[in-house]
Amino acid sequence: SKKMILDLDTGIDDTLAIAYALGSPEVELIGITGTYGNVLVEQGVRNALAVTDLFGHPEVPVYAGLPHASRKDSFEVLPVSAFIHGQNGIGDVEIPDSSRSPESGSAVDFIIDAVKTYGKDLVYVPTGPMTNIAAALAKAPEIKDEIGKIVLMGGALTVCGNVDPWQEANISQDPDAADELFRSGAPVTMVGLDVTLQTLLTYKETATWRELGTPAGRFLADMTDYYIKAYETTAPKLGGCGLHDPLAVGVAVDPTLVSTLKINMKVDVDGPTRGRTIGDNDRLNDPVKTMQVAVGVDVPRFLNEFMTRITGLAKA
Ligand code: BDR
Ligand code: CA
Repeated sequence: SKKMILDLDTGIDDTLAIAYALGSPEVELIGITGTYGNVLVEQGVRNALAVTDLFGHPEVPVYAGLPHASRKDSFEVLPVSAFIHGQNGIGDVEIPDSSRSPESGSAVDFIIDAVKTYGKDLVYVPTGPMTNIAAALAKAPEIKDEIGKIVLMGGALTVCGNVDPWQEANISQDPDAADELFRSGAPVTMVGLDVTLQTLLTYKETATWRELGTPAGRFLADMTDYYIKAYETTAPKLGGCGLHDPLAVGVAVDPTLVSTLKINMKVDVDGPTRGRTIGDNDRLNDPVKTMQVAVGVDVPRFLNEFMTRITGLAKA
């Protein structure tokens, strides 16, 4: 089976991404690497340990990744992130802490070693800033040719950003890291706001999780309702919450859920639009396209896969 690594700033939709991966028999989640963004890296790691326990998968190792972008010396959670994901990242729902500790090794080395071990069978899914993978590529550049693929949540090609008119949140935290990844030549599928703002969840679906009557079902419902409520304030016209991170996992499991445009991308790292994802005009005529960008999504089919897989996990 395919091996998957999730690299998460474990907030609410990151937790839904974990649930989607654990509910997918096609993939084995071989590890989680923690990043920062929705929460500090320590809190994200704590959440990843707690929710993998709650979902009945305490075998998944969790590594703490880098705590901030390489060109910064610290990181602070933006008030808007706390508003959307809760102070604790999981909608301020209380669940027991895991008795496990994060792994002692480095997340970056774990990623490199996994590429060496599994090669083309490995899919790496970052749903936060791209800091850890950029560091792995800097340390072991050859992994770009050895890895199966990278399916990331971040950026936008045809719509505006979500932190300001040109920046999507994950890219905005570390534009340099994302640019290094995009221009590395690694096989990257970008699942950005173009498609993730089309896949929406409502209270109707979360109610079915609550009705399962299991601790995991109640947790998923309460946590996700917090996120839907935040979206009612930040994006009242949308009519639900965006399933950003789970869609990246969905595409990693089944690429036919989206249609893509093959185009090499870059990130503006200088000037007033720093953090914008855009086609790399220096590589427009390059016959080799190492990137593709999701530009269409089969919404009903994805929502059906999402509900089936996560409900199956939460039922057990
Ligand atoms: C991304 O930003 C985070 O808040 C979400 O978890 C998602 O990864 C959406 O822009
Ligand atoms: Ca995320």
